[in-house]
Amino acid sequence: MNTAPHLSPDVAHALASLRGEEIDASMGILRRDGLVTATTRVAYFGLYEQDKRTLLAGDVRARRFRAMLIDMSSGVQHDVLVSPAEDRVISVVQLDVAVDGQVPVVLEEFSLVEEIVHRDERWLAAMRRRGLTDISTLRVNPLSAGVASADEQGRRIQRCFTFVQKTPHDLGWAHPVDGVTVIVDVVAREVLDVIDHVELPVPEEDGNFHLPEWVGEPERPGLRPIQITQPQGPSFEIDDDGVIDWAGWRLQVGFDQREGLVLHNVSIDDGGLQRPVLYRASIAEMVVPYGDPAPQRWFQNFFDCGEYLLGGFANSLELGCDCVGEVTYVDATLADNDGGVRVIPQAICIHEEDAGILWKHFDNWNGSSDSRRNRRLVVSFFVTVGNYDYGFYWYFSLDGSIQLEVKATGVVFTSSYPGGGYPYASELAPGLGAPFHQHLFSARLDTMIDGVDNAVDEVEAVFVPRGPQNPTGTGFTQSVTRLRTEQEAQRFADNAKNRAWLVSNPSVRNRLGAPVGYVLHPEGRPVLLADAESDIHKRATFTTKHLWVTPYEPTELYPAGDFVNMHPGGAGLPRWTAADRDIDDADIVLWHTFGLTHFPRIEDWPVMPVDTAGFVFKPYGFFGRNPTLDVPASDHCAPAAAHGHAHHDHGEHP
Ligand code: NI
Repeated sequence: MNTAPHLSPDVAHALASLRGEEIDASMGILRRDGLVTATTRVAYFGLYEQDKRTLLAGDVRARRFRAMLIDMSSGVQHDVLVSPAEDRVISVVQLDVAVDGQVPVVLEEFSLVEEIVHRDERWLAAMRRRGLTDISTLRVNPLSAGVASADEQGRRIQRCFTFVQKTPHDLGWAHPVDGVTVIVDVVAREVLDVIDHVELPVPEEDGNFHLPEWVGEPERPGLRPIQITQPQGPSFEIDDDGVIDWAGWRLQVGFDQREGLVLHNVSIDDGGLQRPVLYRASIAEMVVPYGDPAPQRWFQNFFDCGEYLLGGFANSLELGCDCVGEVTYVDATLADNDGGVRVIPQAICIHEEDAGILWKHFDNWNGSSDSRRNRRLVVSFFVTVGNYDYGFYWYFSLDGSIQLEVKATGVVFTSSYPGGGYPYASELAPGLGAPFHQHLFSARLDTMIDGVDNAVDEVEAVFVPRGPQNPTGTGFTQSVTRLRTEQEAQRFADNAKNRAWLVSNPSVRNRLGAPVGYVLHPEGRPVLLADAESDIHKRATFTTKHLWVTPYEPTELYPAGDFVNMHPGGAGLPRWTAADRDIDDADIVLWHTFGLTHFPRIEDWPVMPVDTAGFVFKPYGFFGRNPTLDVPASDHCAPAAAHGHAHHDHGEHP
């Protein structure tokens, strides 16, 4: 194993997850300097990574941290960089919230809202008109506000819906009080407006999937236990900085309040050389735009990274429930809204699993019969953001491929179904609607294929018309087109052409003389379906293309901008790429949009079976041949006869 700069312990230390003492030291400085007072809430706190260019050059500097702060008494917001090692604040920027957007939502905004709304006469009257008089059963659901209207400019807003929760154990999502929107200023702590758009019946039927008396006792006769055992333990090791070694793979696992899992310095062994593939990989943004243009719902577009900071909503995972087998858990250390240290126990799950057949052949000529089983390292976490739950699963396989799978589950957002073949929602239970929506994710992939300077080619299948070069009309070929600038690299997937994006290193050749590379295979499902002039199109422009490529800039981390909450739009990728910078044989970052377009099914109610979306990143001319010929056959399937080994039967082992 070599000691390439990206794999040095100093680099790993510089990129490791937050430590509690770093939070304490940073908060001490921010309090001392008057930036954090009794009314300040810490909306975000995280590692501000050192510029990759100096870090990989061996100039490892003291760790710095970024804090996004809001004074809940005045609404004043700051974006701060702090260095505990230097005992100082590096920079302070006060946000102009009407232009810059706002810091992410803090937890107390959720709890505040119900209290404030419950006291509002206009809302009480709207509820009374619907026969809803028991306030204790009315849950007020605060939702990120989208774009501010003229009279909301500069204010910090939540738009709220109401749900009936019949008893403390009831699933409130089953009973939306649709048609009433409450607008709350969470800094002024006042209701700005109650809009009673339309009176719709509150769906009656319960959805209490969690209650045995509603579902019936769990019983599925004939299901016998499946147990996964690894009597000698798992095949991976992990150190204190989160560096994992497994079957030739090496990668560093980190965790951030905004992005959740962050992977660094992903490399794979090739004949004793640890070859880099990715410098950094994460889900940098996600948004759930709703497709029901009804007046009470137009604003529903939740940015679960930029507005809510999904990493902070990570679940503590339990063995046998969320992950099975020989599982290693890693805790997540984050700052809470008061600047204290908050540890989410068992937030990250790491395990390996059997992944079916790796390769197999029975040869008719030489009589050989071989098969090998694949396995993969799984690094995952699960979050709950409001009604939805998302699992993020990174898979690393023996053949060098990397896959991300997002699992969407939980409870779909509900409405009152207006009937009559309503074109923007499904009916899930009598009178209960589920507006159509999308779940769109942005994977930020800072590639490092055998070095930081990479290039991207679009590769697709090409039909060749019959002619002198193709007299039989049976020919087809492949086109390879270099994407040279940021504008050229804004691309749609096209599954009818098998379109994919090859990331290569033009300076490193494989044994056949071609640049070494990895291919990004998109699923090619719909991008954002909203109109180009809509607010969401401007705010989530990253979702309007499957691929973007930018040159590396340490400050370009979030594709919808740093302050997504109430941002009017245009930030992030559309702004950066307007410069149309060169990306050919440069230090580049790929931004891949993927996700689900969800027309809810009856079967998605009351809790939704997992649906998945993701992508695959596969070696393409990276190795000199199939890199898994050295994988041993499994114990009980020795390719025996042909190689003169005795066949092993179950039970013969001690
Ligand atoms: Ni959905």
